[in-house]
Amino acid sequence: MTGHHRTPVTVVGLGSMGSALAEAFIGAGHPVTVWNRTPAKAAPLVAKGAEHARSADEASGLVITCLTTYDDTLAVLGPAAATLDGRALVTLNSGSPAGAREMAAWADGHGARYLDGAIKNVPSAVGAESTLLYYSGDRAVFDEFLQTLRVMGGDTVYLGAAPDLAALYEMAVGGTLLPALVGFFQGTAPLQARGLEAASMVRFSVKWFEMINSILPVFAQEIDSGDYSDPASSVNLFLAGAAHDEELGTEANLDVEWHKGFHDLLRRAVDAGHGDHSISALTEVLRTPAPGA
Ligand SMILES: NC(=O)c1ccc[n+]([C@@H]2O[C@H](COP(=O)([O-])OP(=O)(O)OC[C@H]3O[C@@H](n4cnc5c(N)ncnc54)[C@H](OP(=O)(O)O)[C@@H]3O)[C@@H](O)[C@H]2O)c1
Repeated sequence: MTGHHRTPVTVVGLGSMGSALAEAFIGAGHPVTVWNRTPAKAAPLVAKGAEHARSADEASGLVITCLTTYDDTLAVLGPAAATLDGRALVTLNSGSPAGAREMAAWADGHGARYLDGAIKNVPSAVGAESTLLYYSGDRAVFDEFLQTLRVMGGDTVYLGAAPDLAALYEMAVGGTLLPALVGFFQGTAPLQARGLEAASMVRFSVKWFEMINSILPVFAQEIDSGDYSDPASSVNLFLAGAAHDEELGTEANLDVEWHKGFHDLLRRAVDAGHGDHSISALTEVLRTPAPGA
């Protein structure tokens, strides 16, 4: 099929992610229009065949925005609102469910057919068969543009009609990232203090993450059933390990302040009677704000 027959796409926002998205559409033969607040970022894409819109209201075809936040998206689309009536609009920024609901209400108010999306990978993974994107909102938009949406990633999922579902999963799944990365970063410090490279840890950390992957279904089952009584690893076991975190912190002169919230969580779980329960019982403590918060 030639580019002539492919769905025209407009990509609004050409940061690291938006540029990768536009490039994927160009590579797949779609007629692509691009817009960015800082126009210079359009140049490499125009050199590859994209049209450069001078303002967001020159959008054509399927409109895909990839700005930093919903507020940024609203600020950019605001002046172009009149052109969105009847048009399919997909937003791919990160944000909260409340932000998604506000965005959906705004899009609805201007007659746009709205799909909220989240991309769960890095720009270099855009276009790969395994790259996950999920969407919620207007099912008809998802169905009509599925082939086009799959250009950004082969693992393309529709979550449901509530427009904030994608943002909800985005935040629920994404919440693991910072604690996991901080743990990795902290782990490199005592190694480097001993003259060992961070790279020496990678193979073992990857195995560690694989182990975590493998036990998630077990924890999910415990959480869904509310039965924490047959633990592979108990809250008490993790609390015993807390002392080792502090010992290593002192020995290697590390900033271990960030551990305190986790250790406090473990103690509150013990106080609530979960000491001998599975570590997934922390979920019960996390359901409500900490005392005094
Ligand atoms: N990068 C990743 O690994 C990754 C992965 C998954 C999801 N995401 C999500 O994708 C979205 C974009 O990320 P990114 O990595 O592309 O960020 P980025 O490189 O920082 O680019 C941000 C983009 O938003 C534009 N922008 C921000 N505020 C604006 C405003 N008020 N008015 C107009 N334009 C504005 C920027 O325009 P200028 O060029 O003019 O500054 C730029 O095009 C974010 O929500 C991010 O969470 C990113």
